[in-house]
Amino acid sequence: METNPFIEDDQRVKNRPQACTVVIFGASGDLTHRKLVPAIYNLMVDGELPAGLKVIGFARREKSDEVFRKDLEVLNQKVSRSGHNAGLWEKFAGSISYHQGEFQDVTAYESLRTRLDAEAAAGGTPNRLFYLASAPEAFDDILLNLKASGLNDPIQGGWSRVIIEKPFGKNLPTAKHLNKVANEVFPERETYRIDHYLGKETAQNIMVLRFANAIFEPLWNNRCIEQVQITCAENLGMEGGRGGYYDNAGALRDMVQNHLLQLLSLIAMEPPTDLSADGVRDEKVKVLRSLRPLNGPEAVGASVVRAQYTAGTVQGTEVVGYRREDRVNPGSLTESYVALRIFIDTWRWAGVPFYIRMGKRLPKKTTEISIHFRRPPAVLFNAPAVAAGAADNVLVIRIQPNEGISLRMQSKMPGPSLRLEPVKMDFQYSTSFGKSSPEAYERLLLDAMAGDATLFARRDEVENAWTFVDSIEDAWHKSENPPKMAEYPAGSWGPKEADELLAQDGNAWRRL
Ligand code: BG6
Repeated sequence: METNPFIEDDQRVKNRPQACTVVIFGASGDLTHRKLVPAIYNLMVDGELPAGLKVIGFARREKSDEVFRKDLEVLNQKVSRSGHNAGLWEKFAGSISYHQGEFQDVTAYESLRTRLDAEAAAGGTPNRLFYLASAPEAFDDILLNLKASGLNDPIQGGWSRVIIEKPFGKNLPTAKHLNKVANEVFPERETYRIDHYLGKETAQNIMVLRFANAIFEPLWNNRCIEQVQITCAENLGMEGGRGGYYDNAGALRDMVQNHLLQLLSLIAMEPPTDLSADGVRDEKVKVLRSLRPLNGPEAVGASVVRAQYTAGTVQGTEVVGYRREDRVNPGSLTESYVALRIFIDTWRWAGVPFYIRMGKRLPKKTTEISIHFRRPPAVLFNAPAVAAGAADNVLVIRIQPNEGISLRMQSKMPGPSLRLEPVKMDFQYSTSFGKSSPEAYERLLLDAMAGDATLFARRDEVENAWTFVDSIEDAWHKSENPPKMAEYPAGSWGPKEADELLAQDGNAWRRL
């Protein structure tokens, strides 16, 4: 049998999270302050954190443990899901410390190793979880120095693991390079490429919805489904200096290559043979390999719309256009919006368009997936609305906010005459389970501590997604006749060209 070089023997039983030292590279950054440390704090408050866990922030600036803890506390007070509690924080802060060092300087890693070895020898945890949360340019240096200092080698009785933040490369060659470096330092089974969308409760529920219920899977194919839409709308623009990173990335690389193609894979994949990390990821990879390639400017122009926002009003506030944003090139050719029509060339999905759209400065923040079922024959209830599709059965998976799932169906209005009206069956997490969902990072950190990589992207997933995305980027930036850049006023639902893309197929974007 042909073997897949990317799969290692990690068909492990789902384990419990184990105590470890989490070393965060890029400890002064926003991600550490806003997401990672608050996530670990929440886990502690919820009693989920393994006893003996330690956090070490690694960054360039000189800073004492005390100052580092105080900086973290200030942010935690603002963002904590569970609410900041001074007493609990104090207890938690005792497990946090700081390690100053340049990413390029191997001696800083050696001193870290001496310190970790000494702690383990004194009865502390032998397990090490290295989190690369720095700027991506530093990933190579950090990985290579982890190796040079021997920190990648597990010490007796422990493990050594790495979590790598996005962006995972900028294109296929850079992603392959990073994969190569990462796998020279850590085996694939200890390499965790994070995609925080996979940690969202509702994304995890997609497999449960599909495979733990009897009623959906028989309909989940091109005979019953007409089209699928995935929308990720954001009202934010380039606040907080984000333009510097974003203008080099754009909507396609920033969100589609990772989060949205991951959601698409979960919707389109075949049932896995088991729930092991590779069982699930094997099926997702097959979807990514089956994406019909869009090669050349013509194919890209026919199926992809890119756009930038112009000045407008978002939620009552006037905002500038994309090219006038802080740290954005005034002549920028980077898209803040992208819409795509994708076909998945498999038996199950032949002929079904998957429409994906993502945009900054849209009217509100919302992410949802809608599955549009084919119409029943207009024989018995030949009302105009039925024929026009205004009442199609639509299954909506609300990823955020207001997490839940709803099903639209036709119903007879009460009364003597036969009038049809669409109604909704609605499930909401907040009312059904009475508690808020944990933050994506909480779940993912616990999984990494447990050695469960199911919700992390495997090497071949990342590379296949880049292959698809690169052909679009090439048509935009390397061809002589690139498809044009459209515009949309900030605060609108995107450019008219995106509406026309669906209108060509007789479809329309769902109104959110
Ligand atoms: C990040 C992107 O990965 O995801 C951001 O870089 C985006 O541009 C963010 O805003 C959205 O995440 P969420 O969880 O707020 O939908």
